Amino acid sequence: MAAVDVDSGRRKLDWARAHMPIHARLRQRFGETQPFADTVVAVCSHVEAKTGVFIETLAAAGAEVVFTGSEPMSSQDDVMAALAEQSGITGHMRHGVSDDELARLHETVLDHSPNFILDDAAELTARWVARHPNAAAGLVGTCEQTTTGVQRLQAMVGQGVLHFPAYAVNDTPMKHYFDNVHGTGESTLTNLCQATNLLLAGQRVVIAGFGYCGRGLAEKARGWNARVIVTEVDPRRALEAHMAGFDVMPMSEAARWGDFFITATGNRDVLRDGHFRQMKDGAVLANAGHFNIEINADDLAGMAETRREVRDGVEEFTLNDGRRLNLLAEGRLANLAAPTAMGHPAEVMDQTFGTQLMAAVDLMERRNDLNAGVHPVPDAVDREVAEIKLATLEVGIDELTETQQRFAEAWRTEDIKA
Ligand code: NAI
Repeated sequence: MAAVDVDSGRRKLDWARAHMPIHARLRQRFGETQPFADTVVAVCSHVEAKTGVFIETLAAAGAEVVFTGSEPMSSQDDVMAALAEQSGITGHMRHGVSDDELARLHETVLDHSPNFILDDAAELTARWVARHPNAAAGLVGTCEQTTTGVQRLQAMVGQGVLHFPAYAVNDTPMKHYFDNVHGTGESTLTNLCQATNLLLAGQRVVIAGFGYCGRGLAEKARGWNARVIVTEVDPRRALEAHMAGFDVMPMSEAARWGDFFITATGNRDVLRDGHFRQMKDGAVLANAGHFNIEINADDLAGMAETRREVRDGVEEFTLNDGRRLNLLAEGRLANLAAPTAMGHPAEVMDQTFGTQLMAAVDLMERRNDLNAGVHPVPDAVDREVAEIKLATLEVGIDELTETQQRFAEAWRTEDIKA
């Protein structure tokens, strides 16, 4: 096994730190107030440089941090080695582990008996709840950063097994308007082009799902001069896509049409057997949703006569009629799991992790007032992260005058124009 280049990890952390000004401010603030003193905080995420800066900031805020990866391929060994050098930080992860190994590493993190979980796709929370289905067992709470994770937390509430408060950080404006839309949009397309060395301009790009991620992908692909089609299952989202000027059709029709396919639904089998049968020779398939089951790679493998890695991170499946379909990063998150992937840009993750951090501090402070269940992050917390970001950008905004404030709060006809 090649030696891990710790210095490369340190340099990646330096670069990310220099482009995460919200974290610089929070590090200073929470370094003084120590909101996580005597607290074991488990972090599950894609452990690359931006996550590293987040972990460092938690440690500076007094936490004893134990981290792991949320996905087998998306964490970087050099960054994790540079984090492990720092006091108050322990890691249980290695790039390229099997799914079984990842499960064991997650259990090892839980053996540290965390008081708090900062989670991605509810991977650690689900295991904690499976271990302790009848009690919180010392866990103060959890903050969740993805759509898939919030969905899983709600399922736990439905079954009556969530015994602690959880903040749906994914659902904050500061997360999904920026991270899902711009972060996923830019980083997935960047990596798709880098991994394939192909052009998007003039190409036919099919985006499955017009949620936050899907709309970012569709808008940005159009911005790169691609011809974009959207597929949906929700009539309102489909209508939004239509009125945003995209062609909308079922995948059974779009399959014949696309040069590139990107799934962003958070669901499964969005591209499957029947679709593969119709696709053009040379089509490229990529997934931006959390799980690697949006594209049914087993169906593809079952139909293939031969398969080979045609470029790093791109597998070519040759079907019995000679058509070649190319799957990026084994159908895992294309912006995180492919060999050239770097995840979201630093500025976006500064906001996402800044919101996670502020939400976690708020939950710690309100621990005795919050019931078990999934809660929205208080608007004031989210708003403050936006204010810090604007301050770092030196962007000023207006304030409501007293009259405007009174107007906004009035309902009696005589008060409206008073
Ligand atoms: P969302 O809930 O806003 O959007 C998903 C959309 O997909 C919905 O409009 C839904 O109607 C549609 N959909 C569901 N099943 C479908 C199907 N079979 N065919 C077509 N459309 C279908 O969710 P969001 O925030 O856009 O997230 C989507 C996925 O991306 C989730 O798994 C989330 O965890 C993941 N994600 C990935 C990121 C990355 O870095 N790659 C970053 C943020 C989220």
